[in-house]
Amino acid sequence: MPGPLCRRAPAKRPSRRPRPLGSANCKPSRPRRPDGPIRFGSAQVTVKLPPRAGIGLKPQHFREVLAVQPDIGFFEVHAENYMVAGGPYHHFLGRIREQYPLSIHGVALNLGGAGPLDEAHLDRLVELMRRYEPASFSEHLAWSSHGGVFYNDLLPVAYDRPTLQRVCSHIDHVQERLGRRMLLENPSTYVQFETSSMSECGFLAEVVTRTGCGLLLDVNNLHVSCVNHGRDAVASLADFPLSAVGEVHVAGFTRDADAAGAPLLIDSHAAPVDVAVWGLYASVLARLGPVPTLLERDQDIPSLSELHAEAQRADLLLSSGSERNADLCLEGAQ
Ligand SMILES: [Fe+2]
Repeated sequence: MPGPLCRRAPAKRPSRRPRPLGSANCKPSRPRRPDGPIRFGSAQVTVKLPPRAGIGLKPQHFREVLAVQPDIGFFEVHAENYMVAGGPYHHFLGRIREQYPLSIHGVALNLGGAGPLDEAHLDRLVELMRRYEPASFSEHLAWSSHGGVFYNDLLPVAYDRPTLQRVCSHIDHVQERLGRRMLLENPSTYVQFETSSMSECGFLAEVVTRTGCGLLLDVNNLHVSCVNHGRDAVASLADFPLSAVGEVHVAGFTRDADAAGAPLLIDSHAAPVDVAVWGLYASVLARLGPVPTLLERDQDIPSLSELHAEAQRADLLLSSGSERNADLCLEGAQ
């Protein structure tokens, strides 16, 4: 499906009280289907998550979260881990959802895929959204399946007109099915396409204009892609359509090297957030003000208290005001 590549070969991948749900045991609420086509094109992005730090909810922390009720702004879960009717994951998520705002983050919608979206997958997503009524739904600018083959990865797309048309059509369809605006996340990439005719930021801005979706700015992805492609992250951030950002991700990467020995960063989510990413994050806050921020960790997952302590660093930046963040921004840019 993708066009000709250039540069590197593909790398290996290593208020706490939300409004009540429709019922105490999290049965699906009444569907909120629109009466007609929903227009997302002109309205401002509405952020329903609190402007605080959240963390990814992991099964090994379910019981401790309920027992300790840590002061965390929100939790985020991967949609595909909850696309079943019952079981322990739903048992715990339903109880935690009663205590905390929730963000649902998809990893397999295949928005950049060549074919139509998987309607059965969308059906499951619609049901999940009805069940939990999350404050936010987000997905990636990527593809992960083609011709009936599914890849356990988020693969890059060419930034050209045909891809733009296809991605926008898919996002239009998702927003229609969900009856709400979604956030689109910038990817971490290890290859670029010779057929790309616009920058990543230009592509994202055009998607926002055409579909009315918001953006999820993954600061780690921005840093990883910039290092891997020899771009300046501060300059890329200056081009990013920040006015559409409704959520930020921060995460850790793994250092590697390509065949020529050049630095290669892997978006592994297996380490604490790097100092360079914290600096970029402070730059984002200096421009945007407080914005909901998720600390992602998907490998080598530490204790809940360790994750919470790292998330508190984001909370500190979020609450320290624009002047302090501006100072950090200048420090990060030097
Ligand atoms: Fe992310």
